[in-house]
Amino acid sequence: MFRLHELIALVTYIACALCEPIQARDATPVASTAYSIPSIVTPARATSPQYSQSPLQHSSFAVASTANFGKMADPSNTYTLFRDGGGSCTIANRTLWLFCDTLAYRSSDGRYMGAASNSISLATNFSQPAVLTDASSTPATGIRPAIPWTSAEAAVAGSTSQRYALWVYTNCIPTGNNTAVHFWLVNKFSSVTSHRTLGNTMAQYTLDPMTNQFTVTRNSQITFAPPTYGYGSFANVVVNGVAYLYGLDTVYSRNDVHLAKVPVNTITDLSTWQYYNASSQTWNSTMPIPNARQQSAAVIQNSIPFSSGTIFFSEYHNAFLLVFFDNWADSTFRVLSAPSPVGPWTTNNIAIWAMTPGPRGYDYGGVAHPIYYTNGAQAGKSLMLHYSYQNTSGTYTVASQLTFA
Ligand SMILES: *[C@@H]1O[C@H](CO)[C@@H](O)[C@H](O)[C@H]1NC(C)=O
Ligand SMILES: *[C@@H]1O[C@H](CO)[C@@H](O)[C@H](O)[C@H]1NC(C)=O
Ligand SMILES: *[C@@H]1O[C@H](CO)[C@@H](O)[C@H](O)[C@H]1NC(C)=O
Ligand SMILES: *[C@@H]1O[C@H](CO)[C@@H](O)[C@H](O)[C@H]1NC(C)=O
Ligand SMILES: *[C@@H]1O[C@H](CO)[C@@H](O)[C@H](O)[C@H]1NC(C)=O
Ligand SMILES: *[C@@H]1O[C@H](CO)[C@@H](O)[C@H](O)[C@H]1NC(C)=O
Repeated sequence: MFRLHELIALVTYIACALCEPIQARDATPVASTAYSIPSIVTPARATSPQYSQSPLQHSSFAVASTANFGKMADPSNTYTLFRDGGGSCTIANRTLWLFCDTLAYRSSDGRYMGAASNSISLATNFSQPAVLTDASSTPATGIRPAIPWTSAEAAVAGSTSQRYALWVYTNCIPTGNNTAVHFWLVNKFSSVTSHRTLGNTMAQYTLDPMTNQFTVTRNSQITFAPPTYGYGSFANVVVNGVAYLYGLDTVYSRNDVHLAKVPVNTITDLSTWQYYNASSQTWNSTMPIPNARQQSAAVIQNSIPFSSGTIFFSEYHNAFLLVFFDNWADSTFRVLSAPSPVGPWTTNNIAIWAMTPGPRGYDYGGVAHPIYYTNGAQAGKSLMLHYSYQNTSGTYTVASQLTFA
């Protein structure tokens, strides 16, 4: 489904030669890195789900307007980047952007400069959502991944046919003023064009607002592996200090979304997680390991197959919204809603925006970023949306805005 690696097949994949050393001492963490990022403050009012049990508002999800801001890029980076997927992360009043496979070309002459499994940028101004400041894959930073490899992953990072890839398709989970966690998919290639997903990995972020030092650690290579659901990789939402982490059943049915919860301040301690059974409406501290489809236990069921998505509380709708792309490659943003994180979720999705796909057939990786339009406004009325656009020249992410009527 995600095809940037086809492009990589055309070029020589240059692995990061200057990656930070991997810490493997005492087995924890299994991977760690720290680097400086530019200090660009984009404060936003955190949305607070102070919903009443009053009904859904603006339930037709009619759209008043849309805007397309074009390719998300840093105008001062002398490398032209192609990259896909990704999600945003609100941390210490900064808005970080993390992206998947990133290819860099020198803008002056188009020369290929290298590739990284992922990259990091910052939002510069919520009024100009396509304008980013790149914090990796620049001449100054070198072309290196934003998320650290384990030593086993690093050992094959230079091989296009054996490499690992860390890719993300949703937003991070804020866990404190200066901390967040983000669930990345861990993929392993078996040839240049063929990979499988081994599971997801929890990347822990810390940003020191005084020094602008950004630290990323992973405590294990894989946090949740199929057939276990990939909690946190599909979507998440924090309510009253509790993180709700949604995972797709990627083995038996991508129609089923399963749910776990954990207090944000113990999110890295898996023994404090609980898992939801929608059939009995009970939480259980034993993680289910399905050997068949468990549709009735799924918190979102009877919908359509999912690809990427975002869950957040919309003050405008007085409801939790799931804004998503389905798995049919139809390049359409859709919405489901619920009065609480555990549902009941609607089953009839409403198409809110059918994009015009790029020349390579379809858009993917659609994600919503409601944080962009919360200052002085009702959260959820306007959404910043981004998705991956497959142009003939390469794949890049596009920034856009949708405003509900
Ligand atoms: C952000 O962008 C808007 C619209 O282009 C502009 O008016 C404003 O000055 C910018 N703000 C900053 C801090 O650059
Ligand atoms: C987060 O920041 C707020 C205000 O900036 C402060 O009151 C609060 O104590 C901080 N929380 C933590 C956990 O540091
Ligand atoms: C973010 O900025 C706002 C406004 O400047 C401030 O009130 C708040 O404490 C800041 N929060 C953090 C986590 O730094
Ligand atoms: C969920 O609860 C139902 C009803 O109690 C039960 O039959 C089913 O086995 C449970 N499913 C899982 C996956 O635990
Ligand atoms: C929790 O899961 C375990 C293991 O599947 C099961 O034995 C137990 O009955 C479940 N508890 C509840 C309250 O559903
Ligand atoms: C998209 O592809 C067309 C045709 O190759 C090219 O002219 C255009 O510049 C590309 N757009 C971007 C943003 O790369």
